[in-house]
Amino acid sequence: MANFRIQNLSDYESSYRESIEQPESFWDGIAKNYQWQKPWDKTLEWNFETPDIKWFLNGKLNITENCLDRHLEQRGNKIALIWEANDPKEASLRFTYRELHQKVCRMANILKELGVKKGDRVCIYLPMIPELAFATLACARIGAVHSVVFAGFSVNALADRIQDSGCEVIITSDGLNRGAKQIPVKSVVDEAVALCPDVKKVLVVNRINWPVHMETGRDYWYHEMLTHVGDTCHAQTMDSEDNLFILYTSGSTGKPKGVVHTCGGYMVYAGYSFQNVFQYNESDVYWCTADIGWVTGHTYILYGPLLQGATSVMFEGVPTFPDPGRFWQVIDKHSVNIFYTAPTAIRSLMASGVDHVLAYSLHSLKALGSVGEPINEEAWHWYHTHIGKGRCPLVDTWWQTETGGIMISGLAGISELKPAHAGQPLPGIQPILVDSEGKEIEGEGVEGYLCVKFPWPSMIRTTFGDHERCRINYFATYKNLYFTGDGARREANNMYRIIGRVDDVINVSGHRFGTAEIENAINQNKKVIESAVVGYPHDIKGQGIYAYIILAEGTSQDNHSRDEIIETVVEHIGRIAKPDKIQFVSGLPKTRSGKIMRRILRKIAEGDISALGDTSTLLDPLVVDEIAGGRL
Ligand code: PRX
Repeated sequence: MANFRIQNLSDYESSYRESIEQPESFWDGIAKNYQWQKPWDKTLEWNFETPDIKWFLNGKLNITENCLDRHLEQRGNKIALIWEANDPKEASLRFTYRELHQKVCRMANILKELGVKKGDRVCIYLPMIPELAFATLACARIGAVHSVVFAGFSVNALADRIQDSGCEVIITSDGLNRGAKQIPVKSVVDEAVALCPDVKKVLVVNRINWPVHMETGRDYWYHEMLTHVGDTCHAQTMDSEDNLFILYTSGSTGKPKGVVHTCGGYMVYAGYSFQNVFQYNESDVYWCTADIGWVTGHTYILYGPLLQGATSVMFEGVPTFPDPGRFWQVIDKHSVNIFYTAPTAIRSLMASGVDHVLAYSLHSLKALGSVGEPINEEAWHWYHTHIGKGRCPLVDTWWQTETGGIMISGLAGISELKPAHAGQPLPGIQPILVDSEGKEIEGEGVEGYLCVKFPWPSMIRTTFGDHERCRINYFATYKNLYFTGDGARREANNMYRIIGRVDDVINVSGHRFGTAEIENAINQNKKVIESAVVGYPHDIKGQGIYAYIILAEGTSQDNHSRDEIIETVVEHIGRIAKPDKIQFVSGLPKTRSGKIMRRILRKIAEGDISALGDTSTLLDPLVVDEIAGGRL
């Protein structure tokens, strides 16, 4: 039977082989390393057509017992969470497993007092403060389904998510710290709640002493409720396939969808992948710089590390405050051994020069990770040389909100390192490349659409409230395959290189947006007649947002109109979706049937105007010359 811990290449190879040849007995063996209240009757039932995926059927568990209670005896006094504030002058906080257990239980008791029950959805709209970790785990403790919304999303984006998942309780804060700025948060929730009549209770954490409006009977201060709740709370018995969380992510069509993960499979894969990709050792300090508002924070700040009894760092701040040496200072301060960040952060710090790095020793580092978008070779080498000093393995981890955990990646110190290549699939993951007809492309040195042909425990189960959407998005493109939306290349030795999205999704600084989602926001501006958004290569962000906009007659095509349109996007989605370039045009290249030829717009945005291809099918071919001539 395969070991939980992969310790060398031959372990990896034998685990991988077993996981493909006998997936059920392989995952049975891995799942036995966790604490179950009742064992499962059957390991797997699946059907990619409907889709219907169930792992560890009828198994009963609570993930927080595995993250917390299970460690109390051996690791009660070990640090579970180190919290580093935005301002380096503010003291960092450390929570042992015992303390974290109490904090989570107390938050869980508050939620119960507010009327939250098993199966209820709770929206968490908090900055990166310890209460975000407590709240997320507290929901899991009582069987409520958490829907964490990144605190940079706007009123409208928050309201959409609250409504879609039917949340009646929101956990938020007065405001947040971001670099040198303080930003209100509760007022955003107040405006969102005005659009969501079903919201009954709002729990507010005081972070920055910002004056807030508290609605009697609806709004409660966390610190006040803490005074009368107990510090133990029974862990709700959950079925393996009960929902654990919803996390919204963008697709190529419509509004963001709520990806649903369930308790048993997600737990098994989160701990297993964390352990093996990062080769975590008992005394290591691990830091993932993501925000818990994204899946990376869910799986690799909270669940994965805590399942393995690790010490996980949580950072409130930004990489450039008070200066671009902040990450490296935090690594030295907490003697971080394993560091996991995004290529966009690396590229922006690279641009501020190596002096900020040289001010710190970084001698504690043993392994580095990258996530969120393809890492270009230049950034890979800079990260490996200047941060890892050439001695730390660098794992490039490819995965998605929908996959729940890392799918393709090197294992630190075990796998061969190849810049800009994610590497080999983890045990249990069966990637396949297909052509546009869905026919498998075999062999090496080949490119195709990246799909997965067999279920893995932490895969998406549904999109909340709309199962058909899940089927159409992921399972209907190619028969009997999960379609990732990415293109990839396979080299010798089953090594994968991810090329990027092949659908209308753009990846801006590791954040996913549908082009239609940004267009819908832009079109809310009354001056806009029509718009088309595409991605283009951006030195720091990976991809930038390029918007072509037709303005209403009589509107001036000036910076004032540009600023207004940007404000509209900020209002409807958030700052993170601001277009980088806005080009005003008199028309868009459309086919006779009215379809926008995005291929042409992408080429122009990329500056590749010599290869626009066939434009003869366009309604008005002349518009292409106008757009190409006015390119920004
Ligand atoms: O295009 C891939 C890219 O990010 C997408 C998933 O985005 P999201 O669900 O927001 O999750 C991000 C964090 C897991 C993928 O479809 N992506 C993510 N990691 C990588 C990547 N592309 C290349 N290399 C990666 N390591």
